[in-house]
Amino acid sequence: MVNMIIDGKNISAPKDTMLLEAIRGAGISVPTLCAHEAVSRSGSCRLCVVEIKKGNRSRIVTSCLYGVEEGLVVDTKSDRVLNVRRLVMELLLARCPESDVLQKMALEMGAKPQSRFVADTDKGKCILCRSCVRVCEEVVGVSAIGLFARGSQKTVGPPFHEQSDVCIGCGACVYVCPTGHIEMISTGEKRKIWGRRFKMQPCDKCGKYFAPVDQLKFISKKTGVPFKELSVCTECR
Ligand code: SF4
Ligand code: FES
Repeated sequence: MVNMIIDGKNISAPKDTMLLEAIRGAGISVPTLCAHEAVSRSGSCRLCVVEIKKGNRSRIVTSCLYGVEEGLVVDTKSDRVLNVRRLVMELLLARCPESDVLQKMALEMGAKPQSRFVADTDKGKCILCRSCVRVCEEVVGVSAIGLFARGSQKTVGPPFHEQSDVCIGCGACVYVCPTGHIEMISTGEKRKIWGRRFKMQPCDKCGKYFAPVDQLKFISKKTGVPFKELSVCTECR
């Protein structure tokens, strides 16, 4: 265990913990967008910043990527921290002005729901956090989507924004996206995501459509479990 002072309280945390978990473990809230438990950390949204002090020096760090250290003094709500967070939020809002998730967070942290920076009109709700890309690569093992182009033109999606033939329509990317950018429409026997339509499999027992056929085929191939055995929804298993 290591001992720290967080917002004036003595806090102990296991050695290999990130500061964000130690802070939350102490019951202190920190805003985050890109830190999802299903994927590795990217440190891309920068909302989780805190101020750390070691000796006479203090600096701002991203708490989701910074490991706990013995004797660290941490301030999660100093003026410096709150100013950086508000600035970060304004930049995110300038990119995604119509994101209701960002607007709500901005209000909660005292930032203006309208950014003072020139707003983009073509980025949807995507903050480029890469959580969708990571879950597709790290958890599903498919790598159907990525980040493409550079600078302000950077976008997320299948290569060349064409229909991906490796996508299995599982929707894991939708599940981890913090802003609701990815559109997935499931209407009974069909699902549409990333511009591709998927046929859904009905449950052998109750008849409810529950998963894309391509996803079940993928799992069957990977695990060796016969497709037939996978064709039963979770409620009927
Ligand atoms: S679509 Fe969502 S998860 Fe993917 S990069 Fe954009 S904000 Fe992040
Ligand atoms: S939560 Fe730490 S950078 Fe996004």
